[in-house]
Amino acid sequence: MPPLITGVHPAVTPRLLLPAGAPGREDRAAYEARGGYSGGPGGYLEGEDLISAVAEAGLRGRGGAAFPLGVKLAAVAAQPGDHVLVVNGEEGEPASVKDRWLLRTRPHLVLDGTVRAARAIGAVTAYVYVSDDQAAESVRTALAELDELPVPVHVRTVSHSYVAGEETAAVRAINGGPAKPTDKPPRPFEEGVAGCPTLVSNVETIANLPRLAAAPAPGEDVSPGRGFGPAGQETFLMTLTGSCPRPGLYEVPFGGPLGEAAETLGGLTGPPRGYLMGGYFAGLLNRRGHVLTLDYDVFRDQGSGLGCGAVIVLGPADCPVGCAAQVMAYFDRNNASQCGSCFNGTAAMSGVTAALAAGIAGQADVRRLESWAAFLPGRGACATLDGAANVARSLLREFPAEVEAHLRDRCGQCAELDLTAATAPFAVAAYAQPAEETA
Ligand SMILES: Cc1cc2nc3c(=O)[nH]c(=O)nc-3n(C[C@H](O)[C@H](O)[C@H](O)COP(=O)(O)O)c2cc1C
Ligand code: SF4
Repeated sequence: MPPLITGVHPAVTPRLLLPAGAPGREDRAAYEARGGYSGGPGGYLEGEDLISAVAEAGLRGRGGAAFPLGVKLAAVAAQPGDHVLVVNGEEGEPASVKDRWLLRTRPHLVLDGTVRAARAIGAVTAYVYVSDDQAAESVRTALAELDELPVPVHVRTVSHSYVAGEETAAVRAINGGPAKPTDKPPRPFEEGVAGCPTLVSNVETIANLPRLAAAPAPGEDVSPGRGFGPAGQETFLMTLTGSCPRPGLYEVPFGGPLGEAAETLGGLTGPPRGYLMGGYFAGLLNRRGHVLTLDYDVFRDQGSGLGCGAVIVLGPADCPVGCAAQVMAYFDRNNASQCGSCFNGTAAMSGVTAALAAGIAGQADVRRLESWAAFLPGRGACATLDGAANVARSLLREFPAEVEAHLRDRCGQCAELDLTAATAPFAVAAYAQPAEETA
């Protein structure tokens, strides 16, 4: 795969990615020169004013579930006792790179947002939770560049795994246990780190806060950060990879078709064979994904999702059955082996997709896959099993002709696959600051 590039959709000005021509890690002076740590003309909004501004702006979580941040802030703030903030930078999805990029490149933006969120919920402590060494080092260096913060911020490192970034796994790890999910309730907002109500928010979500917290000048109604940019559109970070001429990390506006962003930024020249959405979590889409509007609810209503913003393009040489078999094998190997339904369910679904890829499955196998995909979701302590079921369900829904063909003949593309390899399909290699930057 060519080196990842970063770029910004021409319809927006960057808010999260650095402007073109500014590669490298942004230090405190550079961040402050862009207006960082100062807010708007009226400084920063605090407490309930900030929570209301976030709710009005409609900012939704970028860790995968797209839950409204305003609701989460208010829920934690309303709990009695001490509160804790966890900024989740673990980035377990193998095809996503956005959180590592933000932590490595814009640590002060993340720390500014961390302080804003911590103050909004009245946190006594905040943790930046990461597995990437360079990200951890970048945040530690940024903390050393700062004077004392109003809330103590600690960097907590964890060994990388698919489930380590799940919110209860993060809380458990910070509390000294294994980074594996726990049963809910209690949810972290009720009882989290050290037993305190805890807000767990994704790095990209938190990185949007300094803009939303910028207070208007006295006597003015609108803060400079809340107009959603010159094009009037909110943005998100998309890791666009797979069979695409210009794979990269892109800042993209919500509201346009996925295919338009993939063509403009990724260099596609038309609808690909399909997409794998949300990292692995939201499953497959056929060509129709190309025209779907980049909107959390639109994708959800179509049985898919934007998840953490990772989008994988399936080209002519990527068989969707082979893709599903690879992802399912990954889920089988990388679930936390805690829940029988997930341990056995991912193995069973992996077995059928592998048999399809090997050209040895029958109609009865497909019917079993269909039934597992329908009744397994919701049966694990975390949503890993739901993600695996999404992949199975979406394969059957989006590519019925290809599934049927695999019952008749061995597919030449699948014959090349090694499902025993302990790799993550479409994984983004460790991110290196790219030589080429685009605007
Ligand atoms: C298996 C699994 C893995 C997850 N991994 C991550 C992760 O690596 N990073 C992350 O921010 N959220 C991850 N999440 C989502 C978190 O549980 C949580 O919803 C999120 O951190 C909340 O942040 P947000 O509201 O800003 O999206 C994962 C969820 C599941 C079910
Ligand atoms: S659902 Fe799967 S990944 Fe989640 S805790 Fe249970 S076994 Fe682990």
